[in-house]
Amino acid sequence: MIETLTALDALRARVNGWKREGLRVGFVPTMGNLHAGHYSLVTLVRERADRVVSSVFVNPTQFGPSEDFTRYPRTPDADTTGLEAAGCDALWLPEVEAMYPFGVELAAKVQVPGVSSVLEGACRPGHFDGVCTVVTRLFNQVQPDVAAFGRKDFQQLAVIRQMVADLHVPIEILAGEIVREDDGLAMSSRNQYLSPEERAVAPTIHRVLRSMRDAAQVGAARAQVEADADAAMRAAGFVPDYAVVRRPDFSEPADGEGGARVALIAARLGRTRLIDNIEFQLP
Ligand code: PAJ
Repeated sequence: MIETLTALDALRARVNGWKREGLRVGFVPTMGNLHAGHYSLVTLVRERADRVVSSVFVNPTQFGPSEDFTRYPRTPDADTTGLEAAGCDALWLPEVEAMYPFGVELAAKVQVPGVSSVLEGACRPGHFDGVCTVVTRLFNQVQPDVAAFGRKDFQQLAVIRQMVADLHVPIEILAGEIVREDDGLAMSSRNQYLSPEERAVAPTIHRVLRSMRDAAQVGAARAQVEADADAAMRAAGFVPDYAVVRRPDFSEPADGEGGARVALIAARLGRTRLIDNIEFQLP
Protein backbone atom coordinates (compact mmCIF):
# COMPACT_ATOMS: atom_id res chain seq x y z
CA MET A 1 0.00 0.00 0.00
CA ILE A 2 1.38 3.45 -0.85
CA GLU A 3 1.37 5.94 2.01
CA THR A 4 0.50 9.56 1.25
CA LEU A 5 2.34 12.06 3.47
CA THR A 6 1.43 15.75 3.66
CA ALA A 7 3.36 16.81 6.80
CA LEU A 8 7.14 17.16 6.89
CA ASP A 9 7.56 15.54 10.32
CA ALA A 10 5.62 12.46 9.16
CA LEU A 11 7.80 12.22 6.03
CA ARG A 12 10.99 12.57 8.09
CA ALA A 13 9.81 9.92 10.59
CA ARG A 14 9.07 7.46 7.79
CA VAL A 15 12.39 8.00 5.97
CA ASN A 16 14.42 7.96 9.21
CA GLY A 17 12.74 4.69 10.17
CA TRP A 18 13.82 3.12 6.87
CA LYS A 19 17.36 4.45 7.25
CA ARG A 20 17.62 3.02 10.80
CA GLU A 21 16.78 -0.36 9.25
CA GLY A 22 19.71 0.15 6.87
CA LEU A 23 17.46 0.59 3.80
CA ARG A 24 18.48 2.78 0.84
CA VAL A 25 15.94 5.43 -0.07
CA GLY A 26 15.23 6.47 -3.68
CA PHE A 27 13.37 9.60 -4.81
CA VAL A 28 11.49 10.71 -7.94
CA PRO A 29 10.36 14.36 -7.88
CA THR A 30 7.42 15.25 -10.18
CA MET A 31 4.73 17.83 -10.79
CA GLY A 32 2.03 15.16 -11.04
CA ASN A 33 -0.32 14.23 -13.87
CA LEU A 34 1.86 11.19 -14.11
CA HIS A 35 2.46 9.04 -17.20
CA ALA A 36 4.70 6.14 -18.22
CA GLY A 37 7.74 8.48 -18.39
CA HIS A 38 7.40 9.27 -14.68
CA TYR A 39 6.68 5.66 -13.75
CA SER A 40 9.81 4.51 -15.61
CA LEU A 41 11.83 6.68 -13.20
CA VAL A 42 10.24 4.89 -10.23
CA THR A 43 11.30 1.57 -11.79
CA LEU A 44 14.81 2.92 -12.46
CA VAL A 45 15.37 4.23 -8.94
CA ARG A 46 13.95 1.00 -7.47
CA GLU A 47 16.93 -0.84 -8.94
CA ARG A 48 19.21 1.20 -6.65
CA ALA A 49 16.97 1.63 -3.60
CA ASP A 50 14.96 -0.48 -1.14
CA ARG A 51 12.23 2.13 -0.69
CA VAL A 52 10.98 4.77 -3.14
CA VAL A 53 9.45 8.15 -2.36
CA SER A 54 7.86 10.21 -5.11
CA SER A 55 6.73 13.81 -4.71
CA VAL A 56 3.95 15.64 -6.51
CA PHE A 57 4.25 19.41 -6.26
CA VAL A 58 3.34 21.91 -8.99
CA ASN A 59 6.11 24.39 -8.20
CA PRO A 60 4.99 28.00 -8.74
CA THR A 61 8.54 29.41 -8.79
CA GLN A 62 9.53 27.62 -12.01
CA PHE A 63 6.63 28.99 -14.08
CA GLY A 64 6.89 32.41 -15.76
CA PRO A 65 4.07 34.96 -15.30
CA SER A 66 2.45 34.08 -18.64
CA GLU A 67 2.98 30.32 -18.34
CA ASP A 68 0.54 27.52 -17.46
CA PHE A 69 0.89 27.26 -13.63
CA THR A 70 -2.82 27.66 -12.87
CA ARG A 71 -4.00 25.36 -15.65
CA TYR A 72 -1.28 22.73 -15.19
CA PRO A 73 -3.23 19.43 -14.99
CA ARG A 74 -3.75 18.15 -11.43
CA THR A 75 -4.83 14.49 -11.12
CA PRO A 76 -3.99 13.35 -7.55
CA ASP A 77 -6.15 10.22 -7.47
CA ALA A 78 -4.84 8.77 -10.74
CA ASP A 79 -1.28 9.69 -9.70
CA THR A 80 -1.62 7.83 -6.38
CA THR A 81 -3.00 4.70 -8.06
CA GLY A 82 -0.31 4.79 -10.74
CA LEU A 83 2.54 5.31 -8.27
CA GLU A 84 1.36 2.40 -6.18
CA ALA A 85 1.23 0.16 -9.28
CA ALA A 86 4.75 1.33 -10.21
CA GLY A 87 6.07 0.18 -6.84
CA CYS A 88 6.35 3.50 -5.02
CA ASP A 89 6.20 3.27 -1.20
CA ALA A 90 5.39 6.84 -0.23
CA LEU A 91 3.93 9.90 -1.93
CA TRP A 92 5.15 13.25 -0.58
CA LEU A 93 2.45 15.83 -1.25
CA PRO A 94 3.47 19.17 0.29
CA GLU A 95 1.31 22.29 0.32
CA VAL A 96 2.72 25.51 -1.20
CA GLU A 97 2.85 27.02 2.34
CA ALA A 98 4.86 24.05 3.64
CA MET A 99 7.29 24.26 0.73
CA TYR A 100 7.78 28.04 0.99
CA PRO A 101 7.16 28.90 4.69
CA PHE A 102 8.48 32.46 4.21
CA GLY A 103 6.43 32.94 1.04
CA VAL A 104 7.44 32.55 -2.58
CA GLU A 105 8.78 36.13 -2.85
CA LEU A 106 11.09 35.90 0.17
CA ALA A 107 12.21 32.31 -0.42
CA ALA A 108 15.94 31.57 -0.36
CA LYS A 109 17.06 30.70 -3.88
CA VAL A 110 19.50 28.25 -5.40
CA GLN A 111 21.06 29.40 -8.66
CA VAL A 112 23.36 27.42 -10.93
CA PRO A 113 24.93 29.90 -13.35
CA GLY A 114 26.20 29.07 -16.83
CA VAL A 115 24.26 25.96 -17.72
CA SER A 116 21.02 27.65 -16.51
CA SER A 117 21.40 30.67 -18.76
CA VAL A 118 21.25 29.16 -22.28
CA LEU A 119 18.43 27.58 -24.36
CA GLU A 120 15.57 26.82 -21.89
CA GLY A 121 17.08 29.26 -19.40
CA ALA A 122 17.23 32.02 -22.02
CA CYS A 123 13.64 31.37 -23.18
CA ARG A 124 12.26 31.00 -19.64
CA PRO A 125 14.11 33.49 -17.40
CA GLY A 126 14.29 32.28 -13.80
CA HIS A 127 12.96 28.82 -14.68
CA PHE A 128 16.01 26.87 -13.55
CA ASP A 129 16.36 28.99 -10.39
CA GLY A 130 12.85 27.79 -9.52
CA VAL A 131 13.73 24.18 -10.38
CA CYS A 132 17.01 24.21 -8.38
CA THR A 133 15.34 25.91 -5.42
CA VAL A 134 12.48 23.43 -5.21
CA VAL A 135 14.65 20.37 -5.91
CA THR A 136 17.03 21.46 -3.11
CA ARG A 137 14.06 21.80 -0.75
CA LEU A 138 12.69 18.41 -1.82
CA PHE A 139 16.14 16.80 -1.40
CA ASN A 140 16.43 18.27 2.11
CA GLN A 141 12.91 17.17 3.00
CA VAL A 142 13.20 13.60 1.71
CA GLN A 143 16.98 13.12 2.24
CA PRO A 144 17.20 10.29 -0.30
CA ASP A 145 20.32 8.30 -1.16
CA VAL A 146 19.52 8.31 -4.88
CA ALA A 147 17.17 10.32 -7.13
CA ALA A 148 16.08 9.94 -10.77
CA PHE A 149 15.45 12.55 -13.47
CA GLY A 150 14.40 12.07 -17.10
CA ARG A 151 16.51 12.74 -20.20
CA LYS A 152 13.36 14.30 -21.71
CA ASP A 153 14.38 17.45 -19.80
CA PHE A 154 18.01 17.18 -20.91
CA GLN A 155 19.05 20.63 -19.69
CA GLN A 156 17.24 20.24 -16.36
CA LEU A 157 19.20 17.02 -15.79
CA ALA A 158 22.47 18.86 -16.57
CA VAL A 159 21.55 21.72 -14.22
CA ILE A 160 20.70 19.30 -11.39
CA ARG A 161 23.92 17.34 -11.92
CA GLN A 162 25.95 20.55 -11.75
CA MET A 163 24.11 21.72 -8.63
CA VAL A 164 24.70 18.37 -6.90
CA ALA A 165 28.40 18.36 -7.84
CA ASP A 166 28.99 22.00 -6.96
CA LEU A 167 27.17 21.95 -3.59
CA HIS A 168 28.46 18.47 -2.61
CA VAL A 169 24.90 17.16 -2.29
CA PRO A 170 25.31 13.54 -1.11
CA ILE A 171 22.71 12.10 -3.51
CA GLU A 172 23.40 9.85 -6.50
CA ILE A 173 21.62 11.12 -9.64
CA LEU A 174 20.24 8.63 -12.18
CA ALA A 175 19.08 9.54 -15.70
CA GLY A 176 16.00 7.84 -17.23
CA GLU A 177 15.54 7.31 -20.98
CA ILE A 178 12.85 9.31 -22.81
CA VAL A 179 9.55 7.41 -22.92
CA ARG A 180 7.60 8.04 -26.13
CA GLU A 181 4.15 7.40 -27.56
CA ASP A 182 4.02 4.85 -30.42
CA ASP A 183 4.25 7.67 -32.97
CA GLY A 184 7.43 9.07 -31.38
CA LEU A 185 5.95 11.99 -29.43
CA ALA A 186 7.74 12.26 -26.08
CA MET A 187 5.26 11.73 -23.26
CA SER A 188 4.45 14.97 -21.44
CA SER A 189 1.66 16.31 -19.26
CA ARG A 190 1.45 19.19 -21.72
CA ASN A 191 0.48 16.88 -24.62
CA GLN A 192 -3.11 16.93 -23.41
CA TYR A 193 -3.35 20.66 -24.17
CA LEU A 194 -3.07 19.75 -27.88
CA SER A 195 -6.18 19.75 -30.11
CA PRO A 196 -6.66 16.56 -32.18
CA GLU A 197 -5.20 18.38 -35.20
CA GLU A 198 -2.17 19.56 -33.20
CA ARG A 199 -1.72 16.11 -31.67
CA ALA A 200 -1.48 14.64 -35.18
CA VAL A 201 1.30 17.10 -36.08
CA ALA A 202 3.18 16.90 -32.75
CA PRO A 203 5.36 13.83 -33.61
CA THR A 204 7.08 16.05 -36.22
CA ILE A 205 9.34 17.28 -33.43
CA HIS A 206 10.84 13.78 -32.97
CA ARG A 207 11.05 13.21 -36.74
CA VAL A 208 12.95 16.48 -37.17
CA LEU A 209 15.32 15.57 -34.32
CA ARG A 210 16.09 12.25 -36.03
CA SER A 211 16.76 14.07 -39.33
CA MET A 212 19.10 16.46 -37.51
CA ARG A 213 21.03 13.49 -36.11
CA ASP A 214 21.13 11.73 -39.50
CA ALA A 215 22.32 14.86 -41.34
CA ALA A 216 24.99 15.58 -38.70
CA GLN A 217 26.19 11.98 -38.89
CA VAL A 218 26.76 12.20 -42.64
CA GLY A 219 28.79 15.37 -42.14
CA ALA A 220 26.33 18.21 -42.82
CA ALA A 221 27.42 21.61 -41.48
CA ARG A 222 25.80 22.51 -38.18
CA ALA A 223 24.36 25.83 -39.43
CA GLN A 224 22.67 23.96 -42.30
CA VAL A 225 21.29 21.24 -39.99
CA GLU A 226 19.84 23.88 -37.67
CA ALA A 227 18.38 26.00 -40.50
CA ASP A 228 16.77 22.94 -42.13
CA ALA A 229 15.28 21.87 -38.78
CA ASP A 230 13.86 25.33 -38.14
CA ALA A 231 12.30 25.36 -41.62
CA ALA A 232 10.83 21.86 -41.24
CA MET A 233 9.30 22.78 -37.88
CA ARG A 234 7.78 25.99 -39.30
CA ALA A 235 6.44 24.13 -42.34
CA ALA A 236 4.58 21.79 -39.98
CA GLY A 237 3.01 24.73 -38.13
CA PHE A 238 5.35 25.06 -35.13
CA VAL A 239 6.98 28.29 -33.93
CA PRO A 240 10.41 27.13 -32.74
CA ASP A 241 12.26 28.81 -29.85
CA TYR A 242 15.36 26.88 -30.86
CA ALA A 243 16.41 23.86 -32.92
CA VAL A 244 20.12 23.32 -32.32
CA VAL A 245 22.98 20.82 -32.18
CA ARG A 246 25.27 21.19 -29.16
CA ARG A 247 27.92 19.36 -27.20
CA PRO A 248 26.39 17.81 -24.05
CA ASP A 249 27.62 20.84 -22.07
CA PHE A 250 25.63 23.10 -24.49
CA SER A 251 28.74 24.64 -26.07
CA GLU A 252 28.79 24.97 -29.86
CA PRO A 253 30.82 22.29 -31.66
CA ALA A 254 32.92 23.06 -34.72
CA ASP A 255 32.07 21.37 -38.04
CA GLY A 256 34.12 18.23 -38.61
CA GLU A 257 34.75 17.68 -34.90
CA GLY A 258 33.76 14.27 -33.49
CA GLY A 259 32.25 13.41 -30.11
CA ALA A 260 29.00 13.38 -28.20
CA ARG A 261 26.15 15.58 -29.41
CA VAL A 262 22.62 16.44 -28.46
CA ALA A 263 20.04 17.97 -30.79
CA LEU A 264 17.47 19.97 -28.85
CA ILE A 265 14.18 21.52 -29.96
CA ALA A 266 11.71 23.73 -28.11
CA ALA A 267 8.72 24.88 -30.13
CA ARG A 268 5.20 26.17 -29.71
CA LEU A 269 2.29 24.48 -31.44
CA GLY A 270 -0.70 26.76 -30.95
CA ARG A 271 -0.65 27.62 -27.23
CA THR A 272 1.38 24.57 -26.21
CA ARG A 273 5.14 24.64 -25.81
CA LEU A 274 6.86 21.27 -26.34
CA ILE A 275 10.49 20.24 -25.84
CA ASP A 276 12.38 17.16 -26.93
CA ASN A 277 15.94 16.08 -27.70
CA ILE A 278 18.06 13.29 -29.14
CA GLU A 279 21.57 12.26 -28.08
CA PHE A 280 24.08 10.80 -30.55
CA GLN A 281 27.75 10.44 -31.40
CA LEU A 282 29.78 11.83 -34.29
CA PRO A 283 32.79 9.79 -35.43
P1 PAJ B 1 7.79 16.84 -14.37
O1 PAJ B 1 7.64 17.58 -15.63
O2 PAJ B 1 6.57 16.27 -13.70
O3 PAJ B 1 8.80 15.68 -14.61
C1 PAJ B 1 9.25 14.86 -13.55
C2 PAJ B 1 10.37 13.98 -14.06
O4 PAJ B 1 9.87 13.13 -15.09
C3 PAJ B 1 11.51 14.80 -14.69
O5 PAJ B 1 12.77 14.26 -14.27
C4 PAJ B 1 11.28 14.62 -16.17
O6 PAJ B 1 12.46 14.72 -16.94
C5 PAJ B 1 10.72 13.21 -16.22
N1 PAJ B 1 9.95 12.96 -17.46
C6 PAJ B 1 8.91 13.68 -17.94
N2 PAJ B 1 8.48 13.18 -19.12
C7 PAJ B 1 9.29 12.13 -19.40
C8 PAJ B 1 9.37 11.18 -20.48
N3 PAJ B 1 8.55 11.24 -21.53
N4 PAJ B 1 10.34 10.23 -20.42
C9 PAJ B 1 11.20 10.17 -19.37
N5 PAJ B 1 11.17 11.03 -18.32
C10 PAJ B 1 10.22 11.98 -18.33
O7 PAJ B 1 10.53 18.04 -14.27
C11 PAJ B 1 9.72 18.37 -13.41
O8 PAJ B 1 8.49 17.77 -13.26
C12 PAJ B 1 10.01 19.48 -12.41
O9 PAJ B 1 10.85 20.44 -13.00
C13 PAJ B 1 10.63 18.96 -11.08
C14 PAJ B 1 12.00 18.31 -11.30
C15 PAJ B 1 9.68 18.00 -10.38
C16 PAJ B 1 10.85 20.19 -10.13
O10 PAJ B 1 9.66 20.86 -9.90
